[in-house]
Amino acid sequence: MLIKRSPDILPSEITDEKVYLSRRQFMRSTAALVAAGAVPSLISSQVQAKENSSRVAWASKIGSKLAEAKNSPFSTTDDPTPFDDILQYNNYYEFGTNKSDPYENSEDFEIQPWSIKVEGACNKPGTYHLEDLIKDSQLEERIYRLRCVEAWSMVVPWVGIPMATLLKKFEPTMNAKYVAFETVYRPDQMPGQKSLFSSIDWPYREGLRIDEAMHPLTLAVVGLYGKILPNQNGAPIRLMVPWKYGFKSIKSIVAIRFVEKEPYTTWNNIAPNEYGFYANVNPTVDHPRWSQKSERRLPGGLFGPKRIDTQMFNGYAEQVASLYSGMDLKVNY
Ligand code: MTE
Repeated sequence: MLIKRSPDILPSEITDEKVYLSRRQFMRSTAALVAAGAVPSLISSQVQAKENSSRVAWASKIGSKLAEAKNSPFSTTDDPTPFDDILQYNNYYEFGTNKSDPYENSEDFEIQPWSIKVEGACNKPGTYHLEDLIKDSQLEERIYRLRCVEAWSMVVPWVGIPMATLLKKFEPTMNAKYVAFETVYRPDQMPGQKSLFSSIDWPYREGLRIDEAMHPLTLAVVGLYGKILPNQNGAPIRLMVPWKYGFKSIKSIVAIRFVEKEPYTTWNNIAPNEYGFYANVNPTVDHPRWSQKSERRLPGGLFGPKRIDTQMFNGYAEQVASLYSGMDLKVNY
């Protein structure tokens, strides 16, 4: 960015059965470990041994819920990107602008305690502990395509709750036409926020129209591959809007505002001609500096990058195209 199939098939049917069952088994046994206090198993992988006490505390709070996550009919049948790639190739400018920076620099980021301030056009504004917002909800695993505006893509098994389930708790009023989200501002733990060369006016901000935010595909994510969300992927809670370019899916959310007018959004403010408010994945509207017709699916193959055609609305047109009927998508990019 620098200025620089058929959804009725369950993941259990599409993932190699042995792999899938052993993963479910793993998740169930990790739940037992959580109960026994052996939580680090939930938060480490081949590459990620980057734990801190706040991650252990958070894992002990939601580990058993993660283990009970149900499959979703919205999951794609595309092969999921390996965990290690999802952990080490990130965009999270608060931790640096190189793809490996978030993995390298987010080890000490504290995710407990975590609260979210809710303001604006709703009947239940206030400051809420994250665990209280999640505790009564059934978590779901959703395997979604993630298409970055930079023309790379991944397939990620997120775990979360529908954003609509979360937002309805605050009882938005008729004046809530948009929802604005804000990432935590913590320069002592986020080196990118201290950088003198950053073009971003921190904190990172994003927003959606209320019908987009309430759409059944829009997810509030708290986990990945059955584990608590890694810091570099937006722990402890992030947005995931699978039909939009990745920059809309804001990480580490601390504020939600229900507003009447289109809110300020970070990349749109930096370069409005390059990054629209809508940012729907659209192979027919190129970025001014590169084509959006195809994408590089991560990881690459043995013989080089894997290039695939980009799909309208990232392959979710059947579910979301009606949200934009009558709109000129070349104008509202
Ligand atoms: N959220 C914040 N707060 N800061 C960021 O820099 N980058 C965005 C989005 N959310 C970003 C962010 C971009 S450009 C992308 S492509 C996705 O996060 C990447 O998510 P991932 O690192 O989990 O793959």
